[in-house]
This record gives sequence, structure tokens and C-alpha cells, in this order.
Amino acid sequence: MTFKDLRDYIKFMDERGKIIHIEDDVDPVLEIAEVSRRATYANLPPLLFEKVKNYEGWKVLTNVFGSMESVYDVFGTRDLEGISQSFLSILGELPVTLLEKVKSLGNALRMGKFMPKSSSPKFEESPIGLTDVPALKTWPNDAGRYFTFSIVITKDPSGAYNLSVYRVQVLNEREAIVHWQAFKRGSLTASKYKERGVTKIPVAIVNGVDPVIAFTASSPVPPGLDKYLFAGILRGEGVDVHELSNGILVPSHAESVFEGYVDLNDLRLEGPFGDHLGYYTPQDYYPVFKLERSYVRKSPIFHATSVGKPPLEDAWIGKAVERLFLPFLKMIVPELVDMNLPEYGLFTGIGIFSIRKSYPGQGKRAMMSIWGTGQLSLLKVVIVVDSDVNVHDLNQVLYAIASTVDPARDVLVIPNVLTDSLDHTTPHPPLGSKVGIDATRKFKEELGREWPEEVKSDEEVVKRITPIWEKIRAKYPPLR
Ligand SMILES: Cc1cc2nc3c(=O)[nH]c(=O)nc-3n(C[C@H](O)[C@H](O)[C@H](O)COP(=O)(O)O)c2cc1C
Repeated sequence: MTFKDLRDYIKFMDERGKIIHIEDDVDPVLEIAEVSRRATYANLPPLLFEKVKNYEGWKVLTNVFGSMESVYDVFGTRDLEGISQSFLSILGELPVTLLEKVKSLGNALRMGKFMPKSSSPKFEESPIGLTDVPALKTWPNDAGRYFTFSIVITKDPSGAYNLSVYRVQVLNEREAIVHWQAFKRGSLTASKYKERGVTKIPVAIVNGVDPVIAFTASSPVPPGLDKYLFAGILRGEGVDVHELSNGILVPSHAESVFEGYVDLNDLRLEGPFGDHLGYYTPQDYYPVFKLERSYVRKSPIFHATSVGKPPLEDAWIGKAVERLFLPFLKMIVPELVDMNLPEYGLFTGIGIFSIRKSYPGQGKRAMMSIWGTGQLSLLKVVIVVDSDVNVHDLNQVLYAIASTVDPARDVLVIPNVLTDSLDHTTPHPPLGSKVGIDATRKFKEELGREWPEEVKSDEEVVKRITPIWEKIRAKYPPLR
């Protein structure tokens, strides 16, 4: 199942009674965000605001990723890992790294169906400015209005496309600040242009596309791997694209498109903005997008979200990222069995990883591989447990920590490393400290003696007692 565009998705969900239509007049200033957050906390399906105060003709869609059920609806399956696994099986067993795999000729041919395809746009050129769309103000002390689920598209000098969800603070009709963090693809691409003396980077800010594309834009696809290609892989079909006059390809079915450039010589103070940590992030300097041309579909739909204390939409996106990227991460950390980026751990805050441990020191080795891999480098706390621990059961994780860890030996504190620049707890952002907890059972070389024997029932006793126990269970249900 592949959605042609956002409307196709809404129709699909509507037919199943899974869109909440809101007919009341609701203001994009604070009110839409308030309703949307309540809906996410209450596990409700997506919301379509039909009457947006002061924005006649526009609708606003929120809460698309408001629960795991909604995430499964977007992908048409509950087996997110299966999507990645079937992609990896197309690539076959041969070359070593993912990029090598993608580059090899035979595979490139097989990848054809996932490549972007040129098609005529559904949008038309329009005189609208950045303030003519119902951008949300999400929290009372936000610096202004923001695009919260728009996609910032840049083309790397290598030719690879970046589609990335970064918040965009609207300044006026023609200017907005793009909040791309230093290590993100948009910012890395900008640095490459700057090295070549180019300071006006062609950019498109796109809103309202097939939610799988929006998901791709919020996913940590390794730099160098084209995000259109990755979106095609997740959709099972290449994205229809149209080339703007600044040379940037945009999805042909987008609801609205702003074409222009990011001026690297024009940095302005961005924020404050109420972010996914549940606090306002302090102001910092980011570059300004300057609008040259706008395009919009008839009766446009604006896709937005509000972040805040977990679990909001970004938490469920994080969970989907966790499942989809697990098979890829296993290629880098072969001993990895499972991972949990718990929603209350803020996705970039705490990660729990289980490994198949076969030699001493492997717990800390895995920890360092994880910190060395893409956006997992942002994790503040990494906990590594043995493969028999269910990482999704936090009680099992606590037991593993309590029963395997000697803090002086097994807890690693690393000061002054790159961390999430939104983390208000760090004294000198983006530098902060990290803690790794090796909660695996220890080898003799690690403990200094044999690991003790774990308690286990006698097998003969188990056989004799099981029928007696079943009778007890049938008669007496648990107290709670
Ligand atoms: C709702 C939402 C808002 C986000 N806002 C930002 C942001 O303002 N800046 C940023 O660097 N990343 C932001 N992210 C995270 C990026 O989308 C994510 O790190 C993604 O992998 C970035 O894409 P890139 O790898 O193409 O840079 C946001 C994610 C979501 C879901």
C-alpha cells in the first residue's frame, strides 16, 4: 500500500473512521497545539481542523503519528523491522557496507523502482508569503510562529538529497530561520557549500506530503544516502518529484512549497521554543531562509505538530525509527539483539541495548560503537544488557543493572562530548557528558573470579509441581 499524497492518506483513514474532523473555529496560535497535544496524550487518531481561525481555505492536520497504531496505519503494517529486512534482502549478502551495496550496479538496477520519478506538479505558483500559511504557535513563550512538520530540502554537492524535518521560525512574509543542528544533514551540506565559497544554498520548504515521506524526513538516514531513495524504499515506490527553478526537486504532490535559499551570512537568534524535552530551548543563532517563489494546491492542507513533555508525536516517531533502523544498526554492531529508546527517555536521552556477549569487554565495546553511530551519538545514557534481558521491560533492565553492575568498573562517564544541543542540563552546549552502564554478566577477566551460578529450579521438581501449580492457578486468579 502506497499513499499517492496526503489527501490519499486522509481518505484512507477517513474510510476507516480514523480521522477526527474538527468543525469549531480553532486558532493556530496556541489553540491547535493545545487540542493536538491532548489528543496525543489521549491516544486519539489524527485531527483535521476544518476551520482555521484567520486562515480561510486552509485545513490543518495534526497527530498523524500520535500513537503506534497511527504509525502502523501510515506504513500499512505492524512489522516495521520487516520493511528494512526485506530491503536488506534485496541488496543481497555480497558487499560489506550499506553504501557499497547501494552503489553496486546490479543492485542499482534493482533499486530503480525506489528512485524518484519526474512528474508534473499538483501545486501551482501563488503569491502567498510565509505568513499566509497557518503556522502554529505551540507554547505561550515561543518566539513566534513555527513550521513544525515542514520538510527542509537541500541537495548535497555529492548529488544526494536531504529531506529533513527541522523547525522553521517564521519572521515575516519572506524570511524564516531554519533550525538545523550542527551535525544534521542540512547543516553538513551547508558547510560543504561554504567551503566552496557558496553562501546562498538553494532550499525548498515543503509541507503536506505522503506521511511516509514526512517520516523519512525525520529519520536519521546516514548522510550520503539519498533521502528520496530511502523514502522510496519505505513506500515501496519512488517519490514523484518536480524540479523547481532553483534546481531543487520537491514531491510533486506537496500541499505547499516555498522556494528560495538559506543565506549562511545572515544568522539570527532563533527561539525560545517549547521543545520535546518539555522545556523552552534557549535562543541560538541559525541561518535565514529567504523566499523567492511560492506554490500551493487548491484548498491546501497544512501538516503540523506540537512537541512537549513525552509522550507526544516525536516519541512514536522515535519508536518507529527504533524498529526500522534496528536491522541497519545490527550491520554495524553485529552482537546487537534489540534496542529500546524509551519514550520517556526522550529518544535521544536514554537507550537500552541487548547484546549477545561472547568475550570480556564486549559490553563497553558495543557502547562505544553505538555512540559512534549517526544520531545515536547524541544518547546521554547508554545501557547495555545481555541478550536474555527484554529491553522493553524496564523492570528486567533494572534487575540487570542491580544484579550485574559494580559502578566503579561498569559505569563509564565521558565528559565534554557532543550531545543534543537542546539539552538544557549541559553547562556548555553542544558539549556535555555521557554515561554508559555495562549491565551484562561479567566474564572472569572482568570480575576477577567466576561469575556466580544463578538460581534455577530442579528439573524433576518442576515436572512434579507443574500440574499441582496449574490447579492452584485455575482456582486462584492473581490479586491484581
Ligand atoms: C517534529 C519534529 C521536529 C524536529 N525539529 C528539529 C529541529 O528543529 N532541528 C533539528 O536539527 N532536528 C529536528 N528534528 C529531528 C530531525 O528531524 C531528525 O534528527 C532527522 O533525522 C534530521 O534529518 P537529517 O538526518 O536529514 O538531518 C525534529 C524532528 C521532529 C519529528
